[in-house]
Parts: sequence; structure tokens; C-alpha cells
Amino acid sequence: MLSRHAARSLSAHGRWFSSSVARHSKVAVLGAGGGIGQPLSLLLKADPLVTSLSLYDIRGAPGVAADVSHIDTPGEVNGYHADKLDEALEGVKVVVIPAGVPRKPGMTRDDLFNTNTSIVRDLAAAIARVSPEAHVLAGVYDPRRIFGVTTLDVVRAARFVSGIVGTNPVDTPITVIGGHSGATIVPLLSQSPFGKGISGEAYQKVVKRIQYGGDEVVQAKDGAGSATLSMAYAGAKFTNALLRGLAGEKGVVTPTFVKSPLFADQGIDYFSSNVELGPNGIEKIHPLGELTAEERKLLEACLPELKKNIEKGKAFVEASP
Ligand SMILES: NC(=O)c1ccc[n+]([C@@H]2O[C@H](COP(=O)([O-])OP(=O)(O)OC[C@H]3O[C@@H](n4cnc5c(N)ncnc54)[C@H](O)[C@@H]3O)[C@@H](O)[C@H]2O)c1
Repeated sequence: MLSRHAARSLSAHGRWFSSSVARHSKVAVLGAGGGIGQPLSLLLKADPLVTSLSLYDIRGAPGVAADVSHIDTPGEVNGYHADKLDEALEGVKVVVIPAGVPRKPGMTRDDLFNTNTSIVRDLAAAIARVSPEAHVLAGVYDPRRIFGVTTLDVVRAARFVSGIVGTNPVDTPITVIGGHSGATIVPLLSQSPFGKGISGEAYQKVVKRIQYGGDEVVQAKDGAGSATLSMAYAGAKFTNALLRGLAGEKGVVTPTFVKSPLFADQGIDYFSSNVELGPNGIEKIHPLGELTAEERKLLEACLPELKKNIEKGKAFVEASP
């Protein structure tokens, strides 16, 4: 899932529906009719920072729009049919893309690579065409405004760790770095006052659970798709953080997958780490901080895998017409 700029720290969060900084913010959801798109649209309608919601899908968006428009919050909602993508994108500040095809049991995210990348490529081209500040693919592409949403891994880490140490997840932020598939997901438990006490078998188990939590959902749904409700929550949470940063709130820091200098010298030019969000999108990419020997091992396993993922993505773009 991708959030485009057109979003306090999720790591020191707990108040993600904060509306302390009011601004007019039009948000578009592309794929609004789907398993993620519908609850995401609902959560965004409930977010006081979203003053206008533009819902688009190749099927079903007007119905979702009519439904969520009855929620008693001030934000305006419009739904658009498949042939009205350009209209849906007019004047939007943030575009969230939950469009795509979800995994079935036995599938990796990679199995859906071509299908999902084609969908996002076509939507990104439309974003670039319709809003000048959104020229993702054409000359004025601004890497400070493109975010891969890895918030679900952050949400899962907080929840799973708090389950072990007996805290409230809201007070148990965990930084998760790397990418968003299996071994590329690297939770930094040592950087949390609650996470750092977890060791031995419990540590191995919780790291694995954070990395492969998505599989639990795919298996439990038994062919009916992957995480939708928790992903919608994570997407709405990231969008709220982005909107607060854009509105000038200081200290909005969250892990997100962005164009990053951290491992660029190893040919890995996209990486998820703590990023400060601000009026221009990315304000500052934080260094990783201190890592334990175990975390360095996880990172070593992450980097080659992530490099392959990124190279595959780049090759896809180069081969595209
Ligand atoms: N980043 C994450 O943490 C994360 C987690 C779970 C799922 N996902 C991904 O999110 C995507 C959506 O998952 P879902 O469970 O909601 O799937 P879904 O099939 O329920 O919904 C996808 C929606 O996208 C729409 N769509 C397809 N092509 C489109 C296009 N060109 N333009 C607009 N809309 C289009 C479909 O009509 C459908 O309504 C999948 O690719 C899935 O793999 C990401």
C-alpha cells in the first residue's frame, strides 16, 4: 500500500486522531471498494483532519461513498465510477492506494508483484497527470512525497510486544525498519524500554511473529484474502500522521518506506526507518541508532532480500512503456 503526499510520532503515539492543527485536507482513496478500502474510507471519514474524501475504485466506490457520507462528521465525501479517475484526483493533497489483489494461502507478496505493480503504475501515472504537484513519474518527481506504508508492521509489533510484557500497546511503540515482506521486516525491540527485556526463545518467537503476522491472517481467512481491517487502521493512522506533519505539527516521526540514503551505497536506495514528517513530506530520515548483535543479524538477512525486491521494482518500471 502506498500513501502519496500529495501524512507525533507513531512511535510515541497514542493520539492518532489528533486534530490539534486544523487545515483543509482533501484525501483520495484509490481502491475504496475493496477489503482495505472500505474500512479505510470509514476511518478517514472519522478523522477530523480529513475535510474532503474522494473515493475511487474500478467498481463500487459510489456505493461506499454514499454509505460513509452518512457518518456524522463534517468531512465531505464523493464517490467516482471507474471512468472518473481524473475527477477523483482533482485538488487532492494526499492519495492513499489500497488498490490491488490480496494474497491467498500459500502465496507470497512476490507472487502478486506484476499484477499489483501494474495497478499502482497506472494509478501513479494518473496522479502525475492530474495534479501538478504530483508529477511522480515526470520530471518533477519529488521523492520527499512518496511513502510506502509499513505501519501495519509497526502496529503488529506494538500489539505483540505489549501482549508479552503486559503493557498498553499505545505506550509500547516499536520501531520497525527495512521492508515489508518476511525477513526484510526488522523490529528494533532493544530501542523500546519494554521490548529490550525480551530475550531467548520469546525474542525469536515475537520477531518471527512480527515478520510473518500477515500469514496468520491469510491462513485464518482461508482463501478470502489478507489483512484488511488492521491494514485499514494502519493506513488511516499513517494518513493522520502525514496530515499532521503537512499542517506543520512538529515531531511527527514514524517508520515508513522511502527513498533513503541509509544503505544507498550498497545499492539499496529505498528503506523503511524512522522518518520525521513535515510540511514538505519527508523532513528528516533518522539514523537507525544503536542495534544489538541480534538486530544486526536480522538486518544482514534483510538487506540482500530487500535489494532484490527493489531491483525487481526498478526493472519493472524500466520495462514499462
Ligand atoms: N502494505 C500492507 O501492509 C498490506 C497489507 C494487506 C494487504 N495489502 C495489499 O493491499 C491491496 C488490497 O488488498 P484488499 O484485501 O483490500 O483487496 P480487495 O481485492 O478486497 O480490494 C482491492 C480493490 O482494488 C480495486 N482495484 C483493482 N484495480 C484497481 C484499479 N486499477 N484502480 C482502482 N481500484 C482498483 C478492486 O476493485 C478492489 O475493490 C492488495 O494488493 C494487498 O496485497 C497491503
